[in-house]
Amino acid sequence: MHPTNSLARMIESCALAILLGAGTLAAAGQSAPAKPENKPQAKLQAAAPASAREWWKNAVIYEIYPRSFQDSNGDGIGDLNGITARLDYLKELGVDAIWLTPCFPSPLVDFGYDISDYKKIDPQYGTLADFDRLVAEAGKRHIRVLMDMVMNHSSDKHEWFQQSRSSRSNAYRDWYVWRDGKGQTATDKGVPPNNWQSYFGHSAWEWDETTRQYYYHKFYIQQPDLNWNNPKVHEAFKDIMAFWLKRGVGGFRFDAITTLYEDPAMTDEGIVKDKDGNPVINAYGDPQLDDTKTNNQPGVHPVMQEMRAAVDKFSTGAYPGTRVVIGETYLPNIGELAKMYGPKGKPEFHLPMDTQVAMINKMDIAAFRSKLTDVETQIGGHVPLLLFDNHDNPRIDLRYGDGVHDEAIQRVLSTVLFASRGAALFYYGDEIGMKTTPPTRKEDVKDPIGITGWPKEKGRDGERTPMQWDATANSGFTRGTPWLPVPPNATTVNVEAEKSDSASLFAWYKSLIHLKKTNLAFAHGDNVMLDTDNSKVLSWLRKAPGAPTVVVAANFTADPQTVSLAVPGSTGKLKTLLKSPGAAEPASLTSIELGPFEVFIGEVK
Ligand code: GLC
Repeated sequence: MHPTNSLARMIESCALAILLGAGTLAAAGQSAPAKPENKPQAKLQAAAPASAREWWKNAVIYEIYPRSFQDSNGDGIGDLNGITARLDYLKELGVDAIWLTPCFPSPLVDFGYDISDYKKIDPQYGTLADFDRLVAEAGKRHIRVLMDMVMNHSSDKHEWFQQSRSSRSNAYRDWYVWRDGKGQTATDKGVPPNNWQSYFGHSAWEWDETTRQYYYHKFYIQQPDLNWNNPKVHEAFKDIMAFWLKRGVGGFRFDAITTLYEDPAMTDEGIVKDKDGNPVINAYGDPQLDDTKTNNQPGVHPVMQEMRAAVDKFSTGAYPGTRVVIGETYLPNIGELAKMYGPKGKPEFHLPMDTQVAMINKMDIAAFRSKLTDVETQIGGHVPLLLFDNHDNPRIDLRYGDGVHDEAIQRVLSTVLFASRGAALFYYGDEIGMKTTPPTRKEDVKDPIGITGWPKEKGRDGERTPMQWDATANSGFTRGTPWLPVPPNATTVNVEAEKSDSASLFAWYKSLIHLKKTNLAFAHGDNVMLDTDNSKVLSWLRKAPGAPTVVVAANFTADPQTVSLAVPGSTGKLKTLLKSPGAAEPASLTSIELGPFEVFIGEVK
């Protein structure tokens, strides 16, 4: 979660609400154009099998929000046994790894991102034995289980913080960030040490009466920041990671990693001004700060080198082979992202998330071309991790859709995701086209940022609704009452319906993933942009030595387009690998016709 997200959330959701009118989103989904037939897929070549140690370089990673994926015991909350029961589905889809958002014991103020014990499973989600069974069953299907590693903060109910807040001389005092207030005296608490704010609204400093100091929290008041200047904190997390690595997890996604450190001088952050010089006010009614003292501080790099080395010790054997280190890396530019891979000889993340591409937030072909080119030229040849959706941002429909061609637009974006070099991360429900379904009344909001920020910020419930498995009551997610309502479009947008429809989005995702796993150029080839002056169609090649070159063309507009491509040494003939349902069979490389937001993928002869 990053402030620019909430800004994007605000702008995008307001814009869409105006465009469509409240309550029409689901209807817009249902009125999508009818799906034409898919043509049978061309025969695929087998890609060279990636070694276990290299699996992550072409990984397909699926994010599961456990609370919303599959309930197995009827309490309305998804759980680990529910995930285990759906592993065959994930296998069929073709995923290499699942990343579980936190399922550790938690008071659930931030739905699991406030952890009170890092070495247990919250009873709502199951037991350690259930977890072990999930890892074992996933392993049988060659699916790795990745966990969320939340190191920036713990819950205020964690034993460490309970100790820390108990007295100034407690051994854990220095595990958190405590400061006196400005102007504090023996009788007066003064004011917070500086103007820093929580990403979830208002001051990032909370007064604690027992020991008469303020503690720092970049997120909720109940999520005090850990003090990474204390070596004991480093040791504690290496120990926690070893605990899970020994249980066979395939690696971690490091949460909120860029906010690990604060500037030691602790001076005020700047206030962002609009073009008239007035302070920008955020969804919580606070002045928007420039985030320069509390985000992306240099200390994060040595810590990640240390964490990576600790994880690498477990990267042995054929399965799970390399344990991966993924980062939640909202950064201002590609240069900062490049640094997250670490300097030569001191690796940090295997896969820091490329939020540059993820957060373009509109079908802006120039932005896509430029940011996808950056991926090839600006990250030192490292492996990119592309993504669009997650549990913190409105889904693709709200950020990229036009309310008319949402499904076709999602085909374009998923093509960018899976047909580009590197690893791909997607979010449960993307593969069937689940839509953002925000609450319409404040009293229904579950995510506290939606309560604090209502109505400008409606929170993240809209992207966390239950998985839509079938058309039965509660979409096959639970036999009880779901913790968030099942979106009304679940009667038509669901796994069961789409599995039996060869023109469905599910079939599209499956085909793209299959290509990524079996076609050599798709799996490991270079990306080469083509036709770079074209402002309507994004085209690129995937090229690998000894394999036929693959061309990809995606129409970024709602109008039909014809594209003429030139590939040196080719006859101009094409062999179709995959194309949007109903799209024309192209006559040649120089005449590829694409309807609104249609995609063509083929081998160049
Ligand atoms: C990350 C998580 C988000 C959480 C925040 C605080 O941004 O993705 O869901 O609220 O960290 O842990």
